[in-house]
Amino acid sequence: MTVRPIILAAGVGKRMKSSLPKVLHRICGRPMIHYVLEAVHAAGLAQPVLVVGRGAEAVRAELGDVATFVEQAEQRGTAHAVQVGLEALPDASTILVLYGDVPLLAPGTLRRLLDHHRDARPGITLLTARLADPNGYGRVIRSPAGTVARIVEDADASPEERAIGEINAGTYIFEGALLREGLGHVRPANAQGEYYLTDVAAWALTRGARVDPLTVADPTEVLGVNSRRDLARAEAAMRDRLLAALMDAGVTVVDPATTYVHAGVVVGEDTVLHPGTSLEGETRVGRGCVLGPQARLVDASLEDGVTVLASTVTRSSVGEGTHIGPYSHLRPGCRIGRRVEIGNYAEIKNTTVGDGTKIHHKSYLGDATVGERVNVGAGTVTCNLRDRSGKKWPTVIEDEAFIGSDSMLVAPLRIGRGATTGAGSVVTKDVPPGAVAVGVPARVIRRSEVTG
Ligand code: UD1
Ligand code: CA
Repeated sequence: MTVRPIILAAGVGKRMKSSLPKVLHRICGRPMIHYVLEAVHAAGLAQPVLVVGRGAEAVRAELGDVATFVEQAEQRGTAHAVQVGLEALPDASTILVLYGDVPLLAPGTLRRLLDHHRDARPGITLLTARLADPNGYGRVIRSPAGTVARIVEDADASPEERAIGEINAGTYIFEGALLREGLGHVRPANAQGEYYLTDVAAWALTRGARVDPLTVADPTEVLGVNSRRDLARAEAAMRDRLLAALMDAGVTVVDPATTYVHAGVVVGEDTVLHPGTSLEGETRVGRGCVLGPQARLVDASLEDGVTVLASTVTRSSVGEGTHIGPYSHLRPGCRIGRRVEIGNYAEIKNTTVGDGTKIHHKSYLGDATVGERVNVGAGTVTCNLRDRSGKKWPTVIEDEAFIGSDSMLVAPLRIGRGATTGAGSVVTKDVPPGAVAVGVPARVIRRSEVTG
């Protein structure tokens, strides 16, 4: 049985009240459609056809070539969308339909659906769930035999039908010929004036075909995202899943309710995540790290044993045993070495820092290369922007230099190995290795030989 997937993602998403196409709204850092694509891929299925419409260009640009894109120019309902999708699959004999706004569906559930369809050979297999609050979903009306007789949309349901707790998840497998013929019989005679895919089920019955329901065990899987409220629910459910996976992999999460992790983030064993910690983007964290309270890491890469307390690290790497914070900000492009100490109120940008260097208090280092075992005194500033041209100038501080408190390092500048700058000096000229420079502007008052 070769199954070809079609994912519907062309809807207007009116209820989101957004200029962004609904399926591009993010859940734990990724567009919600990403999770549907991933589930299809993880279930071992062929590359899906993705039906796009509203904001098609943006969806294409975000996703690249992970799907065959088909455009539904006018959104006339889910049946119409499938019809458009089928144009890309003229020969498909079995078709899996999924909705792009149902992001929590697990690959295992897809597999069960596929297995059932293959073994029982109904005309349609349809995923259902029993929800405590079925409002807004299509309700599943079962036949006396327990198969599906009909699906009635929330907007079209009678009060008795609305009381039914079993809902249509929007995930189905169809026999191709049955689907093609059935779509031709769907009429938009309903409250929304749309062509409903769900009407194919009732029609199939009139043809003597069987529609089998398969009920998911975990109803959070079928959460459909139609509004910002649903989006927040999906975010919470996805976050629970991601944190559970981290805990299973040996990470301590002190307070899951206030810990935020994006999909794809990797965290090593015995790392502790304290409250208020947010790990975003392509962040990688080693073993035995201590993050938070209040640490924010975005596309950051941390070796083992790193501490980040109440600080932000963005697009930077941090070496083993380094301690950051509280209240420090590593902006993009930093490469911090091992056993470095970056203390209170340090801002560092596009800078390399060697092993064992200390940058303890209230300083700014930008576009700098700092060697090993350097001491950067309180209030040190690299003055890397000299005029209005916008050009940033580099500063080099060689190994074991001692930068006195409140030094202004006017770039471009090189502070030699083992050199010292005096407290409050404004350094405008290179300081030779081993020399001591003080004053405003700083003058070299002593030179010495540096050995080694
Ligand atoms: C749909 C189902 C409902 C089910 C629910 C599950 C129908 C008629 N109803 O309702 O039974 O309980 O999903 O979440 O199918 N789309 C298109 N083109 C269109 C219309 C929709 O691509 O012309 C896409 C949307 O982008 C969305 C999906 O199809 O991803 C479902 O459409 P939506 O309008 O959200 O349907 P629901 O009202 O949620
Ligand atoms: Ca929906």
